[in-house]
Amino acid sequence: MRKIQYLQPLAGLFLLAFAACTGMASAQPDAFPDEDPSWPRTEFSLPDETAGTKGFNTQPARKEDWPFFAALRGTRNGLVTYDCGGTAISSEWVLTAAHCVEGATKNAATGQWERPGSGALQIVLGARDLKTVAPNQVYNATDVRIAPNFTRGGANKVPVNDIAVVKLDRPWNGPVVRLSASSASDVDRFFGPAYFAGFGKTDMRQKEPERYNSAEGPFAAYTDILGNAMIPTRSPKACSTDYQVDSYDSTSMICAGYDTGIIDSCQGDSGGPLIARDFAGRVYQIGIVSFGESCGVRGKPAVYTRVSGFKDFVQSVVPEAVFVDAKPEKTVYMTKAGLENLIRTLKPADGKVSVRINEGGSEFRSGERVRIFIDPSVKGRLWVFDLDPSGAVSCLFPCNAGEVDTALVEPQQSVVLPPGGVSISISPPTVPGDSTLAAFVLPERMALIGDTLPDLSRTKGPIRTVWQSYSDIMVFEVRDAMSDAPTSDPYANTGMGLLTYSVSE
Ligand code: ARG
Repeated sequence: MRKIQYLQPLAGLFLLAFAACTGMASAQPDAFPDEDPSWPRTEFSLPDETAGTKGFNTQPARKEDWPFFAALRGTRNGLVTYDCGGTAISSEWVLTAAHCVEGATKNAATGQWERPGSGALQIVLGARDLKTVAPNQVYNATDVRIAPNFTRGGANKVPVNDIAVVKLDRPWNGPVVRLSASSASDVDRFFGPAYFAGFGKTDMRQKEPERYNSAEGPFAAYTDILGNAMIPTRSPKACSTDYQVDSYDSTSMICAGYDTGIIDSCQGDSGGPLIARDFAGRVYQIGIVSFGESCGVRGKPAVYTRVSGFKDFVQSVVPEAVFVDAKPEKTVYMTKAGLENLIRTLKPADGKVSVRINEGGSEFRSGERVRIFIDPSVKGRLWVFDLDPSGAVSCLFPCNAGEVDTALVEPQQSVVLPPGGVSISISPPTVPGDSTLAAFVLPERMALIGDTLPDLSRTKGPIRTVWQSYSDIMVFEVRDAMSDAPTSDPYANTGMGLLTYSVSE
């Protein structure tokens, strides 16, 4: 079915682990920045029947996906109340957002760490369903260290350098999460996929935490079941234009979320992890849920603390924390819809990249050895895909994050694929018909954004919207990068070349 044998099948896409889906219920300290009434409160805007059941489209998490997840709780109005997330980063320490533990102090009489308004701070580890939390899963906080440069910035006093660690009163023997050591493993540099989890709100209409019962007694939380979802990381620009620029800082923050706002973290998720996966599917934490304008709002991605920017702080308190220079998972999975969307968008730039197979021609025989020659007439970032008559898209170049750096081309620079220049054998598609080779030159800062999709088999509900939002985001990002063009020609820094060809037996 694959015509060009070294290509990775798009089927790899369906191995992506999490999907997008459902939510839960409520609860958050009142004074958090999202609650600032001076921010426009565009509420979650799916049709009611969808909003009521789907919330922010997180999905119940599998416990085994988040074994290091920590839930923070205190006591409000006499009721145990869950209000933030965190992650175990060593047997003694949990990572969270500074704003989750702001103002915490040690009560000299009891020796316990307390937060203003919610009393003694506790950490629950190993819980996916808060109704089943047992006393042996509950830890008391015996120390709280907030990043020394934590502050509130901008007109909305959003948290800046929003990171802290909390010490457990006894060792946690379960899994800990690895932390991203550098911006090289932070997948937002190529707009890669990320995943978050939390017990936060799934619907803005949820003003207060819900009440539940557990063996321990009654408690309050926005939801009782841990939710998770996949969201794309975004260019810093997507957040710095949407949020008060004076406080958005891409060295300490990661921007993530759909442009359509379909899936988002929300109040109560703060402090929890934003994770990425490496090439082998192993997770590592890149972000901490920090703030956003309302939740799930179109055009308003959310802000996550960039963990790699705080390696020194974390290591100064928790030297045993594991930092990793990870090689991120393969991220360019283009769909037919995405490719067609991109072709439509760049139509006026068609012809600025010449594409040929061998010495030219458009009809090839099965088994024939071929090489693809790409000659761009503009400078920029090269992307090459193949679309076959069955609708399958194959990535030709660059197909993984490691190739990003070699994808920059100059005008008249001839590129030969496969990259080694060795010819490869071509075979007919499963469905008869023509195939299309599509080569694009995109503005340099586009890096690698693919039409990444969650695992469809695990995603229900508004997947169509999500699906479209991926290619929407990609085209949105392309247009955004096109606006850097030095002249009034919006296509000055883009080019496209298409080649229709067929392969016969
Ligand atoms: N500040 C919130 C909290 O304390 C997290 C908000 C995340 N907002 C968003 N739109 N993703 O729980």
